Amino acid sequence: MNTSQITAVDNTADDIVHELLSPDAILGLGFGFWGSKTLLSAIELGVFGALADGPLGAEELRTAVGIHPRSALDFFDALVALGMLTRDDAGYSNTPETGLFLDPAKPSYVGGILEMNNDRLYGFWNSLTEGLRTSEPQNEVKSGGRNYFADIYAEPGPLHSFLAGMSGISIGASVALADAFPWDSHQRFCDLGTAQGMAPAKIAQRHPHLAGIGFDLPPVGPVFEEFIEAQGLAGRVSFAGGDFFTDPLPEADVYLMGHILHNWSLPEKQALLRRVYDALPDGGALIVYDALIDDERRSNTFGLLMSLNMLIETPAGVGYTGADCQAWMSAAGFRDSYVKPLAGPDFMVVGLK
Ligand SMILES: C[S@@+](CC[C@H](N)C(=O)[O-])C[C@H]1O[C@@H](n2cnc3c(N)ncnc32)[C@H](O)[C@@H]1O
Repeated sequence: MNTSQITAVDNTADDIVHELLSPDAILGLGFGFWGSKTLLSAIELGVFGALADGPLGAEELRTAVGIHPRSALDFFDALVALGMLTRDDAGYSNTPETGLFLDPAKPSYVGGILEMNNDRLYGFWNSLTEGLRTSEPQNEVKSGGRNYFADIYAEPGPLHSFLAGMSGISIGASVALADAFPWDSHQRFCDLGTAQGMAPAKIAQRHPHLAGIGFDLPPVGPVFEEFIEAQGLAGRVSFAGGDFFTDPLPEADVYLMGHILHNWSLPEKQALLRRVYDALPDGGALIVYDALIDDERRSNTFGLLMSLNMLIETPAGVGYTGADCQAWMSAAGFRDSYVKPLAGPDFMVVGLK
């Protein structure tokens, strides 16, 4: 028997019921931040980049990442136990996944968003309880700092890192989107709030007949254009700068909004859906994709926690289910809609005009 299992006695039933209960799941979740922070520190220290060219012994790796000897072995072996490194006679190595996704020199690097978690959200989530009590954001705004997003949009370096981080979390959904929608019957698409342009890139690469536009705030333009050029799509996918609440939307017969609606209040969400509906021609479609909350509100943990993250980061943003989005689409005028899974926690809701 597992030593952490204990016998519980339920005296409320007519027959006394003995069942084996374990606190393991509770304790595992309560201590989950240990593992999470160990990974985030490994990214901050450059562990995965240091192993990009092959295995290193413990002392070589310790020197490469510049940490004190005291906890170096425990740190590296914890990463082995967490499944983020392997260890054999040659030393420590990246796993196939960490070698592909956490080596900063590779275009497949997804660590930008995890760097942001380490620098910002890890600390801000410490104030989740206060956010729940007050409904106030718990990020830089709380301490009187400038709005984080205003700051990063003012500087090319941080803006590039943020937008590349967005690509890191959207690549799976973007690849899936290219197959999940009947693109053959459409010609022009526009991705609203496109960031670096991962979704337009993956869709245009898969469907050479399509022309695409990435729409975002004007400072995003140079980062988008650099990325699209590197993907070999410069002639076919272009950038349009503007504010999706107030500026005319570029003409298209399919619009996309990825990881956008959860940032905004219900009236703002509904206003965006109405604007897209008005801009679409008959026969056009809107694809909303997001880490949706499941309709039963009990299983898509990432979608539910993402909604709590909107509490930390925004004045009124909140997550939503596929059924919520379909109801808003119907109220905006869309004649029909459907929900389909994409990748990981991401689902798309397609509205048809
Ligand atoms: C969370 S990111 C999502 C990026 C991308 N769609 C994805 O799924 O990875 C939100 C994007 O919306 C853009 N955005 C925010 N407010 C906007 C506005 N008022 N008009 C246009 N774009 C906006 C941001 O610049 C950012 O690129």
